[in-house]
Amino acid sequence: MKITVIGQGYVGLPIAIHAAKAGYKVVGFDLNSQLVSNLKLGKSHIEDISDIELSAIVKSGSYFPTDNAANIVGSEIAVIAVPTPLTENREPDLSFIESACDILASSLTSSSLIINESTSYPGTLRNLIAKRIDSKSSFSHRFSISPERVDPGNKDWGIENTPRLYAGLTREAAVETRAFYANFCKNLIEVSSPEVAEAAKLFENSFRQVNIALVNELALISNTLGISVREVLEAADSKPYGFLKFNPGLGVGGHCIPVDPTYLAYAARNSGTPAEFIELANKVNLEMPNKIIQRIKEENGGSLIGKKVLVCGLSYKKDIADIRESPSIRLIESLAQEGANISWHDPVVKEWKKNFSSEPTINAYDITILAMGHSKMDFPKISKSAPYIFDCTGLINLAHQL
Ligand SMILES: NC(=O)c1ccc[n+]([C@@H]2O[C@H](COP(=O)([O-])OP(=O)(O)OC[C@H]3O[C@@H](n4cnc5c(N)ncnc54)[C@H](O)[C@@H]3O)[C@@H](O)[C@H]2O)c1
Repeated sequence: MKITVIGQGYVGLPIAIHAAKAGYKVVGFDLNSQLVSNLKLGKSHIEDISDIELSAIVKSGSYFPTDNAANIVGSEIAVIAVPTPLTENREPDLSFIESACDILASSLTSSSLIINESTSYPGTLRNLIAKRIDSKSSFSHRFSISPERVDPGNKDWGIENTPRLYAGLTREAAVETRAFYANFCKNLIEVSSPEVAEAAKLFENSFRQVNIALVNELALISNTLGISVREVLEAADSKPYGFLKFNPGLGVGGHCIPVDPTYLAYAARNSGTPAEFIELANKVNLEMPNKIIQRIKEENGGSLIGKKVLVCGLSYKKDIADIRESPSIRLIESLAQEGANISWHDPVVKEWKKNFSSEPTINAYDITILAMGHSKMDFPKISKSAPYIFDCTGLINLAHQL
């Protein structure tokens, strides 16, 4: 059976590869021509898919990357896995979903099952995707949702063993969706409506965002109380029930935790019930880089003007090259406003804004901030790169700690 996966990013590419391995003939459609050319050459941009694995599946003919919508023709299933970011006003930006819908409406040549894996607020499948495609397509399609839970870089939980939620707009769509994912997912959980699945996905990440904000606030409080937040957390974590440990840090980043709660807050606002916890958690997490800069400033004579500052770790997550919404970028922007002379070091990201990662050369800087730790980093060297080290991660002993 021929299927199409719209969007070949962190979510779409792994789904496409799993479906191809399960025996489907998969069209991996993406508007980014450079990405498609690389995929055709077997060059993967996703840590969880190796070049060897990708090359083999491309060569086998079961996975066909393309930027030409004409290749979608004949697909019986289409999976939507496109970005759902925020606009400049921090509101849901559904333009990528709308564009995916328009491409499918004009390219599908028979009645198909259309599954949305992109994260969005409750009602998106029913009121946007289904309505938009139905209004533009000559065929009557079935619609379902299965929000992706992939955690890039997680070796324990992948597509096969992470429980997957799904729901159909109709019974037929739900049954077909289960049959599709059963090929490569062990644990499928049907919920009663697409809105429940959509809300569950948003709540999972809102839960993380609120708890991270809470622990970040505790870090600020602990510092003024003169105690170690990490010791407090370790002590609290000795309670065998009713406590779940989250670690403090520079804030939250990536395509999910800083974004998904805002989708829920948007839906909440529109329904007349404001999501106050979420709005506050957003504020606390977004303020962390500036709060940390204030502390570093105070501990360095009150000014950062002209100080040589090395920021280690650009991405938002350990061992992952994704810099979307990374709090390290906000940290660098704020440091620049303070007049600091900034370099950055990230052996995973390697290149950013046409600049390359700097080395944490011993004693080359006035201040080093360990914003995010990667396995490939040389921590002993980083800890000697400046006389003042601020550690947001808890990885360097004896550094100034968050
Ligand atoms: N990254 C994660 O860890 C993760 C986890 C769970 C859910 N999600 C959700 O999954 C969705 C996709 O996220 P992602 O991280 O894979 O994004 P991504 O940016 O890695 O990939 C999306 C791809 O879609 C392509 N694209 C955009 N519009 C398109 C269109 N109209 N037609 C074809 N291709 C198009 C882009 O070029 C890009 O390559 C989002 O809603 C996100 O919130 C992401």
